[in-house]
Amino acid sequence: MGIKPRKVIIIGAGHVGSHVGSSLMMMNVVDELVFIDIDENKAQAHALDLYDSVSSLNENISVKVGGYEECADADVVVISAGTQPVPGKKRLQMFDETMEILQDIIPKLKNSGFNGIVVSISNPADIIADHLRKRLGLPDNHVFSTGTSLDSSRLKRVLSEKTGYNRNSIQAYCMGEHGDSSMVPFSHVYFGGKSYEDICRENPDTIGSISKEEIMEEVRQGGFKIVDGKSCTEFGIGLAACKIIKAILRDEKRVMPVSALLKGQYGHTGVSAGVPCVIGKDGIEEIIEISLTQEEKALFDHSCDVISQFIAKADKW
Ligand code: LAC
Repeated sequence: MGIKPRKVIIIGAGHVGSHVGSSLMMMNVVDELVFIDIDENKAQAHALDLYDSVSSLNENISVKVGGYEECADADVVVISAGTQPVPGKKRLQMFDETMEILQDIIPKLKNSGFNGIVVSISNPADIIADHLRKRLGLPDNHVFSTGTSLDSSRLKRVLSEKTGYNRNSIQAYCMGEHGDSSMVPFSHVYFGGKSYEDICRENPDTIGSISKEEIMEEVRQGGFKIVDGKSCTEFGIGLAACKIIKAILRDEKRVMPVSALLKGQYGHTGVSAGVPCVIGKDGIEEIIEISLTQEEKALFDHSCDVISQFIAKADKW
C-alpha cells in the first residue's frame, strides 16, 4: 500500500476555516485540503486563492471544494462553521445559531464514513465539541475543540509584553471555558523555569504590580478587541488549530490545552473543558491532571459549571 496523503477537511470556509487552511499549508502539515461550505462560491474563491499560493510553496498541496464524501478517507475534520462574530456578543450567545447549523452538518458527517479525528472550533467551542462528540458516535478522545489553546496563545503574549521574555520561554496556559470564565493556573506559570511568583517578587514595578485577575481579564478580552476592529478573528485561531492538527498528524505527543471530556479529572465528570492534554495520532491520548491551588480550583470549577449549564441545554436540543 502506497503512502497515504495527509488529508484535512474544513467544514466552514469563513474567516476561521480559511485561515486554518492557510496555516496548515504554510506549516506544511497537509497534502490534501478540502473545504465544505453551504456557500460554495465563497468556498471556491478561498480554495482557488489558496491554490494559487501553492506556486510560492515548495510543496505540492491540493486544495479544493468538495462534498461530505471527501470525509471518508480524511484524517482530520475541522468544524469552523458558524455565524460571524458581532462586536460585544459573547461566545455563549452564539449557542443557538451554531447548534442550528450543526443539525445540518452532523448527519452528513456521521453518514460519510469518516473515522478520523474532529477538531472543532465553532463557538461556544467547549459545548459545540461536546455535542458533536455525543452525536457523531466517534471515540470520546477523537472529538474535541481547540478550547483554551487560543486563550493560552494570548496569555503568553500578555506575559511576554509585561516581562520582556520571549513567549517561547514562557510555560503558561489557560484552562476551563474558551470564553469569559477561562482561568490561569498561575502556580504552573514559569519563565525559563522561574516561577510566576518569583518573577513578580523580583519585578514589583512591572508584572509584580499587576493582579492575576487583571492578566486573566486582558486575556479574556483579547478576542473581543480583535472582533471590535474587524468583526472576526482568524490568524491566532488559524495557527492554534494548525498546531493541534500537526500534533495529531505527526503523532507529536505534545502537551497542549484543548477542551477534553473530563471523566473524574479535576473532580469533574461529563463536562468538556480546557485542560492540558497529550495530543498525538490517537487525538487526546492523555489528560494531564496538574495540582491546583484552592483559588485556582474554585475558578476552574466555576468555569466548568458555566460550560455544564450549556451542555445541559445542548443535550435537550
Ligand atoms: C477567538 C474565537 C476563535 O477567541 O473564539 O478568537
